[in-house]
Amino acid sequence: MRSPAQRHAPAGAAAPGTRTDIPWWRTAVVYQVYLRSFADGNGDGIGDLAGLRSRLPYLSWLGVDALWINPHYPSGGADGGYDISDYRAVDPEYGDVADLEALVADARALGLRVLLDIVPNHTSDQHPWFQAALADPDSPEAGRYHFAPASEEPPNNWQSLFGGPAWSRTPDGRWYLHLFAPEQPDLNWRDPAVAEDFERTLRFWLDRGVDGFRVDVAYGLFKDPGLRDNPGSYSPTLFGHGPEQAMTWNQPEVHDVWRRWRSVCDEYPGTMLVGEVCLADPEQVALYSRPDEMHQSFCFRLLKSGWSAEAFADGVRSALDAFGTVGAPVSWVLGNHDKDRQVTRFGGGEVGEARARAAALMMLSLPGSAYVYAGDELGLPQADVPAEARRDPIFLRSGGARAGRDGCRVPMPWNDSPGVGFSAAGAEQPWLPVPGEWNRFAVSRQARDGGSVLTLYRRALALREAHAALGSGRATVSTRGNVLTVRCTADDGSVVRCVVNMGSGTALVRSRGTVLLSSSTAVRRSAASVALPPDTAVWLADR
Ligand code: NOJ
Ligand code: CA
Repeated sequence: MRSPAQRHAPAGAAAPGTRTDIPWWRTAVVYQVYLRSFADGNGDGIGDLAGLRSRLPYLSWLGVDALWINPHYPSGGADGGYDISDYRAVDPEYGDVADLEALVADARALGLRVLLDIVPNHTSDQHPWFQAALADPDSPEAGRYHFAPASEEPPNNWQSLFGGPAWSRTPDGRWYLHLFAPEQPDLNWRDPAVAEDFERTLRFWLDRGVDGFRVDVAYGLFKDPGLRDNPGSYSPTLFGHGPEQAMTWNQPEVHDVWRRWRSVCDEYPGTMLVGEVCLADPEQVALYSRPDEMHQSFCFRLLKSGWSAEAFADGVRSALDAFGTVGAPVSWVLGNHDKDRQVTRFGGGEVGEARARAAALMMLSLPGSAYVYAGDELGLPQADVPAEARRDPIFLRSGGARAGRDGCRVPMPWNDSPGVGFSAAGAEQPWLPVPGEWNRFAVSRQARDGGSVLTLYRRALALREAHAALGSGRATVSTRGNVLTVRCTADDGSVVRCVVNMGSGTALVRSRGTVLLSSSTAVRRSAASVALPPDTAVWLADR
């Protein structure tokens, strides 16, 4: 057993030879705050920094180590804040820079670290650079984006990830590149002014005490210099991009940017970078977290795997191998603001919830860091958002053919009141409607319920803190039929097994060890074995 103080080194400090030499981010549980939907402090129906600040004690009570806040910057509003118009400011809807500093101070007092989101691949079309580039094709700002001369056809076959061609026309007939929405023009990272400005932005926030950044589209930034056609088209069903998209992603030059950013972080001990790297090949993803690049890159394999022991085992094994090769911890992800909620992905209803509980135990047992998306600790399902309320450009640009991501971005239910406590009573309607029956998921209810999803997460996080074999050490993964076992061994030799029954019949697991935690009360212990009904998981401390 260990105490929280033993588990992580304070920012920058190290005590060689003891557990305290582990930098905090290697084993941290990071809670992802979708700022707009977390808590509304001023009653306008939009989550904000004051609201988040007021809920920090909840995150401390839950037992996470850090939070990552989705973009808080002034934005054109075309893609949930991922279209930034001013990188060194706070959107007035969310507060101001002083609010962010106060949030960081409060978080620090509670022992929580704060990561911001940073978006280097593209700006908003409202950004002063793009506006200047539109006004004058010969301006220095025009060189910071990808423009092509007026012609009948776009320069190549590149597609926007949100649908349609990746090229749109300016009012004077030129083409400009946007791998996401037209309101998100891609930056030209071969112009040194772009790199310089981003370093200023990093320092601006690091000087305000933040602990690092989640880096959006970290596999982007550079494109094929010859603008050659991509050999294939984008498929949202793949694990990530591969050779079919070789001209738009994963250009070798991008790694030098992360080396530069790493050296900036090194000036601020204890800070870190975690990259969003949506590439199909785990070995390519891991290259982004070599020792002189970002500290972590997300492992999205489990987020994109169906409920199957083989698929999960393959996701875990391939990540442990790939990240092990570069000496980086794996950053496990089961949910985020871009994917359907786990409960729904895993089948919905009681089955979906049972599986989401079991999956959480598996993720939280694994060595490395784990990212928990706000609301997953409540077992929220994907919300059914009426078409007229939807905001996601994926939905809007596909004419409704693709559902988009609004259903996982609905405000958090905090209590039993009609507005579920997201805003103060009598406030404006929330920016996305909350389903009528969602008070049943409220934090206030689940906190009192020993069998709730929230209680399960809280217990799991406390045990992860206390047992050296959970969340750090070494893991091996095996399957027997549809039963998945992750065997976690601490440096002191102690072992915890996480066994997940992903099949349709009861699984008997031989063990005389202690059941530390089970995902369901239906898990039964007898003298020499544990019976796991379908869709359940257990943590066993083996003797
Ligand atoms: C990835 C972000 O997670 C997503 O929400 C956003 O739409 C794209 N990057 C574009 O910035
Ligand atoms: Ca607000």
